[in-house]
This record gives sequence, C-alpha cells and structure tokens, in this order.
Amino acid sequence: MTKSDIALVGLGVMGKSLALNLLDHGFAVSGYDLNPVNRGRAANEGALIDRGVYFDAEDLQALLGSLSTPRILVLSVPAGDAVDIAIQSLLDAGLEPDDIVVDTGNSLWTDSERREQQYHGRLRFFSTAVSGGEEGARHGPALMASGDKSAWSAIKPMWEAIAAKVDPNGQPVAPFHAGEPCAAYLGQAGAGHYVKMVHNGIEYADMQLICEAYQLMTDLLGMTPDEIGKVFERWNQGALNSYLMEISADILKTADPVTGQPFVQVVLDKAGQKGTGLWTAVNSLQEGEPAPTITQAVFARAQSAQKGQRVEASRTIKLPTVAIEIRDNNAILNGIEEALVCAKIAVYAQGFALMKAKSDHQGWQLDLAKVARIWRAGCIIRAGILHQIAQAFDATPNLRHLLFAEPLADILAQKSVGWRQTVANGALAGVPLPGISSALSYVDALCTETSPANLLQAQRDYFGSHTYARVDCDENRTFHLTWHDPVQRETPM
Ligand code: 6PG
Repeated sequence: MTKSDIALVGLGVMGKSLALNLLDHGFAVSGYDLNPVNRGRAANEGALIDRGVYFDAEDLQALLGSLSTPRILVLSVPAGDAVDIAIQSLLDAGLEPDDIVVDTGNSLWTDSERREQQYHGRLRFFSTAVSGGEEGARHGPALMASGDKSAWSAIKPMWEAIAAKVDPNGQPVAPFHAGEPCAAYLGQAGAGHYVKMVHNGIEYADMQLICEAYQLMTDLLGMTPDEIGKVFERWNQGALNSYLMEISADILKTADPVTGQPFVQVVLDKAGQKGTGLWTAVNSLQEGEPAPTITQAVFARAQSAQKGQRVEASRTIKLPTVAIEIRDNNAILNGIEEALVCAKIAVYAQGFALMKAKSDHQGWQLDLAKVARIWRAGCIIRAGILHQIAQAFDATPNLRHLLFAEPLADILAQKSVGWRQTVANGALAGVPLPGISSALSYVDALCTETSPANLLQAQRDYFGSHTYARVDCDENRTFHLTWHDPVQRETPM
C-alpha cells in the first residue's frame, strides 16, 4: 500500500476541507477522527472517499502505519484540552520523536509555547494557525506557522501548495495559478498563534467599524439595507476593498427566505464571540501597547449581548440629541467612507504595534512585512490596504509605528476631516460609534506632543506620594512635593 504524506486528525468542517485541499494538490492523505461515530460518518462521506482519502485505519496505530516517515499528523480539533488529549493518544499509539504533530486550531499562543516544551523529545510539535473559514481551508487559506524549525522544511511544500496565492500587485489569484503563497514560518512556538490572535482582534475591530457605518447610514440617512449594500459594493471597489466589505454588501442585499424582509433585519442583534478578540484586548492591556479599537469592538459585542438592559434603557433613559441638518446625503456618505478608511488604517496600526511590542518582548523577531504579505489573501481580514502595509514594512523593516509610513499618514491627512465630521455627527445624533471614535482618539493621542498626563502624575503624587519626573531635568530623576506647603524633595533612584 502506498503510504500517505500526511494525516488529518479531526474531520470536522476545517479538517475535512484541509484534507480535500491537500488531495487537490497531489498529496496522499489519511483521515481520522478520535470519535468512532465521526470517523464512521467521515469514512462514508462521498467527497472524501471519492477523492481518495485513506480511511481504512481502524485505530491510531493503523493510522500511524499508513504514513510515510517522519509522520506528519495535523490536528484539527477544538482549541484547549482536546489538543493535548489527541497528542497523548498519538503518543500512546507509538508516535516517534521524529514525527511531527501540527496544531491548526485557534489555540492560545501560550499553550503552543507550553506544548513545545512539554512534548520536546517525544515528538516535533508545530503550530499552524489557519484563517479563512471553511472556504479558505478548502480552496486556499492563510497559514501562520511556527515552532520546531526542522519540522518546517517537511511541512513547507504542502502549506505553500494549499495556501491562497497573490500576484505581484498583492491581488489574490485563483486556486492553481502561480503566485506568492500566503503561508509563512513566523518563528518560535507561540508566534504563529499570537499573530493569528491579533488577526482576529483586527477582524473584530474591522467588523465593528463596518457595522457602525451601517448604523449611521440607517439612522442618519434612513437608508434601507439594500441601498447600504449597494454603497458598500461601490466602496469595495476603492480604498475599502476587503473581504469583510464584500460579504457585508452581500449580506445587506440578501432577503430572508422565510419572510422576504431584508435578511439582516431578522437576525437578532446579540453578538457572539469565541474569545480570540478578548485575548487580543487583554494582551494589549498587559503589554501596555494600546489597541483601543480592538478592545472597544469586544466591549461592543458584550454590550450588544445585553439586549434586555438595552431595550429597557432605550425606553426609560431619554438623552436629548442634536438634530443634524442634512443638505446633501452624499456629503454624509463621503464622510462615513473617509472615516472607515482612516479608522481601518488605525486598527491595522494598533494590531501591528501590538505584534511589534510582543515580538520585542519575546525576542521573536517577527517579520511584520511577511505577516502583512500572508494576510493579503485567504484570511478573513484580507484587504487591499495590506499590500501598502507590506510595502511600508518592506521599505522600513524597523518601522516603529505604521502611521509613520508616509503613504498611510498621507491617507489619514487627506481624509481626517470627514472622519472627524462623522464622529461629530454620531455624537450629536446619538449613534454609538465606539470603533470609529476610539480610532480617531487613538490617532489624535498618538499625535499629541503634550498629553494631560502631567496633571495625572501630579494627582498621583498629591494623593499617594507616587512621585513625578520634571520636564527640565533628566527624566529618570523623581520628585515628591509636600503639597500643603509646597516643598520639593528628590526621591532616591
Ligand atoms: C478566521 C476566523 C476564525 C474565527 C471565527 C469566529 O480567521 O478564519 O478568525 O478563526 O474563529 O471567525 O470568531 P468569533 O466567534 O470569536 O467571532
């Protein structure tokens, strides 16, 4: 029997799609699920059987026997304990130290670091975070790999074959056409899943920004979902070109097959979340590297889920608003488009600044140009602007902050008035804009030479003797003022 090149362990939506994608690219694939019921179901599934996934393995030992060595086993199981349970089962079945286990779930990056140490010497542990959902996994995902470097050389040809591809202008190309693969080795264990976590944080924020634009167009301009969908479709042809804009346009133009109403209006307005946006927000707070728009997007999901409270408050708390005189709908729409472009750039800037801070802290030496390049196709946040971001990091690999890149700063300069006007319109009319407005405050704070933290430091010293530094001497020297009879004393370093 010919040996398989690779095995998929876990044949849910993602595992099955990755298996078929690998087959399409000429690799021999074994399929397995730890659960016998799922295994039976998958083994009878036409798409997998007809395409030649090897299914005769009755148990894990037989599965290991079906693979050429060193064996490559890809786990497509839920993040968390299931990953360790699967690895232990493989070890019990006779996995050898040279064999490679690849975790493709949305794992917490610290779990990947822990696993690399825990399984060291017993197997080669490798991570690959996958973005793009079912469609991406089936026809071309973005793959963020990290871990044992020696394992990468075995995995690389497969990942580069099945990943999404882009042309030299950063445009996605159709499957099976030549192009630069959206798959890369990003560094030591943990780096790939950390980058995917930030990807998801950006995803949360970008989705929130689009939702705020939809609400502004509904509440300020009285536009129907179909009309908004058409505007989004137009914007998707320009600076806002992105997968999320494309699907939002599609969603808004879709009618509910049950009632015939606009589909979006029959969907309950309570957002769910699996936690990766929250991880990004928490990590931003821990690193002291602000990602306020990502954090606001997590808060917005949480507040949306408090539907009962919102309904009650909307009926009992009536805050006056200020009527906006709208003479020209197009001017308002242009302002919203400009706000979206600018806020989106600010969100990417927050995400990349967070990755840079973490990479410096961990010593990962993350190549941020590479990260931007592999996000240009296949993943959920794929967007035209990522090509410019990749070019900015290529031009200045040690770029301190994305907004120091001239082309991006120029876009903000050209469009910021529309952004400010949109934030003002939302505030006057009572339309909540936590994403669009926090992004503006982030950029304004970034560009503020003298922040009011001088007063804050004085407050801290006043009530808690927490000391302050002075503008007129070495900032490492610290002082305390006895406030009621102002006398300054230098505190020991
Ligand atoms: C991707 C997505 C995916 C994510 C889901 C759901 O890159 O393919 O980011 O990994 O888990 O879209 O995320 P939430 O349920 O948290 O919205």
